[in-house]
Amino acid sequence: MEIIIERDYDAVCERSSGIVREAVAKNPSLVLGLATGKTPVGLYERLRSSKTSFKDVRFFNLDELYGVGPEHPESFHHFLRTHLLDHLKVDEKNVKLLRGDVKDLEKAADDYEKAIAKAGGIDLQILGIGSNGHIAFNEPGSSLGSRTRPKTLTDETLAQYRRPGKELVSNFAITMGVGTIMDARRLLMMVSGASKAGVVREFVEGPVSSEIPASVLQFHAHAVCVIDEAAASKLKRRDYYKWVSENKWRVGQ
Ligand code: GLP
Repeated sequence: MEIIIERDYDAVCERSSGIVREAVAKNPSLVLGLATGKTPVGLYERLRSSKTSFKDVRFFNLDELYGVGPEHPESFHHFLRTHLLDHLKVDEKNVKLLRGDVKDLEKAADDYEKAIAKAGGIDLQILGIGSNGHIAFNEPGSSLGSRTRPKTLTDETLAQYRRPGKELVSNFAITMGVGTIMDARRLLMMVSGASKAGVVREFVEGPVSSEIPASVLQFHAHAVCVIDEAAASKLKRRDYYKWVSENKWRVGQ
């Protein structure tokens, strides 16, 4: 795993934007996996205002809330449209986002795996991490070989979606599996903020375990984690990672 420690959130987004833009420059029809959450917002802002052409890029995404249609303001569809896709010149036939408003979730999950395979696999998958160590909606205990499937969300994850005075949108989701994510040729994990410092320590330096699904990234040959100082503060080898990246060497690649 390559660990890049940046000063703050803006620097994490700047560095991540450089990685995505460089990948698209090298391969204009890149298969790009998008992520939802607060963390990639600054990355998407930068991509929106960049000169990079996304017209041939093919898009997938990590997950979606169950029972929620693409127009719903809390849907991940809506999030990705408003933060990124509506602002880029994309070819709509290249946009394949998971839908939460399907009748048969198992079939939708299976079709999604087939669509990814048909596209030749994901070239670059953007990731964030939940404070319980989840990636996409692969909650602790998820099989490290899992494929796209429906998933019941944990209370700690649901807390993220609770709005005062409003009912929860959904207790369930459809998510790429850990195995699906691990099949991507490159992974770009973005992490920011002191509240993630504990889980960063666990997924980077702890044992690989389904208790912390993100720890499986330790098995990926091309995973880059761009982490800000606050989120990296509990890493045992923090100074080493910094020294290595400042000296342009790559950790573990
Ligand atoms: C959700 C998403 C994850 C995301 C996580 C962290 O649970 N399913 O893909 O990584 O939130 O979100 P944030 O970036 O807001 O901390």
